[in-house]
Parts: sequence; C-alpha cells; structure tokens
Amino acid sequence: MPGPMKIIAVVAQKGGTGKSTVTANLAVAGQLAGLKTLVADADPQGSLVEWARARQAKTPLVVPVKASAIHPTRYAVERSGLDLMLIDTRCSALDDSLEAAKAAHLTLIVVRPTAVDLRAIAKTVEDLKPLGRPTAFVLNQAPSQRVGREPVIVAEAIDLLIGYGLPVAPVGLRNRLIYQNAFAAGLGVQEAEPLSRASEEIAALWSYVESHLPAPEAPERRRAAPTPLFQALEMGGA
Ligand SMILES: Nc1ncnc2c1ncn2[C@@H]1O[C@H](COP(=O)(O)OP(=O)(O)O)[C@@H](O)[C@H]1O
Ligand SMILES: [Mg+2]
Repeated sequence: MPGPMKIIAVVAQKGGTGKSTVTANLAVAGQLAGLKTLVADADPQGSLVEWARARQAKTPLVVPVKASAIHPTRYAVERSGLDLMLIDTRCSALDDSLEAAKAAHLTLIVVRPTAVDLRAIAKTVEDLKPLGRPTAFVLNQAPSQRVGREPVIVAEAIDLLIGYGLPVAPVGLRNRLIYQNAFAAGLGVQEAEPLSRASEEIAALWSYVESHLPAPEAPERRRAAPTPLFQALEMGGA
C-alpha cells in the first residue's frame, strides 16, 4: 500500500472466536507498517473502544460505529486521508456482518478449531459467499504442535474450512496467553512482546492480509505469500 484506503472486516457468527483480538492486532500491525489506521468498533460491547482506552498511544484511532453507519463512516473516513480501516463486528448479527463485508476489500472469518465453532461456520459462509467478496478464514486459538505435528483437530478444521471453497489464511494464531494479556493492556502482541511467537504470527498474518488487499498501482510491489505455519496447509490444501 499506501494508496486509496483499504478496508478489512472481521466477522464470525459465533461469539468469542477472537474477532476483537484479531482486529486489534492487525490494526497495530497496519500502524507499524506505516499506515494511518482506524478501527471501527461496530460491536455495541465496545471491546476495541475499551482496548483503546487502556492504550497509551493515540493510534490506531478507534471509534464506535453503529453497523448501519458503516457505509457513511467509510465515505467520511476515505476523505480524511486514512490508509486502512478495520471493522470489528458483533456476533449473532448477520446484518452487521453483511454490512461490514459489503464495505470491505477483504473479510476475515475468525474461527476456532472446535466442533461448536466449525458447526457455526456453515451459516456464516452461506450468508457471506453470495456477496462474492474476497473472504478468508483465520484459524484462531489453535493448540500448538506436538513433537512437530499439527494436532488432529487443527488438521481436520483446515480440511473442513478448505471444503467451503474459501481460502484459509496459511498463518493462524495459536492459543497463547500473551494475546489475552496484551489486549488487556491495550497493546498488540507486537508491542507487548516483539520477539514472541505471537508477534511472528501477527506479522505473518498481516503480510497475508496485506497481500490479499487490492494492490494500488504497482502490483509487482506486492509481498510474497508468507511461509505457511500450519503443517496441514503445507502438505496440501489451498
Ligand atoms: N489466540 C488466542 N490465544 C489465547 N486467547 C485468545 C486468543 N484469541 C482470543 N483469545 C481470548 O479469547 C477471548 C475472546 O476473544 P475476543 O477477541 O474477545 O473474541 P470475539 O471478539 O470474537 O468475541 C478473549 O478473552 C481473548 O483474550
Ligand atoms: Mg469482540
């Protein structure tokens, strides 16, 4: 980037999958990449507004936005010279997810590798797919590899997600306490623990996300896809 403002929507019909965590960390990653970043917190619970309150830094900007006001906000923000807008949404609100996805260049569906999340995903996909907008799954809270092997639940989740015909980000987030602690302190993991595995995950996820946003003028400047972290994706998959 930079160029005309890019918009990323973060959605999931299921609560607690990690939408706000992913949004906050990608916002920090975007800001660290030099982009003027705004988070539109479209969840009335206001997790991101709280996060911003706990934060010392004034950026990224975080504003509460009604889902019905996403489009007007987008147009207002576009004129203000910002580079990136992330939209955090509430769960169980199909209309909100659709509003956010329609405004976005890329929609991320955050899902945990649990039976309950994976069951709930069918509905989210069914609703979003007809929009025909760029959409990808982000696997969150994945248990860590054991003796170099991906836990069965992660491999199965990736297979199932691939089956929906939408890309799965080859970099997911493992279940790590630092995500909770950093969020509570109003930080991204890259700020809280720059040398941590979590920080690497977010940098890699940002790189994937950035490379899947529409290029401005010079497509050759797009970054190469990051190295897959999930073994299951290395061995097959999308
Ligand atoms: N990768 C992760 N590792 C550990 N805890 C996580 C991770 N992602 C999210 N969490 C925790 O899970 C809970 C729900 O995450 P949150 O981002 O608030 O979900 P949502 O916005 O989808 O409701 C929070 O307590 C958060 O700190
Ligand atoms: Mg949330």
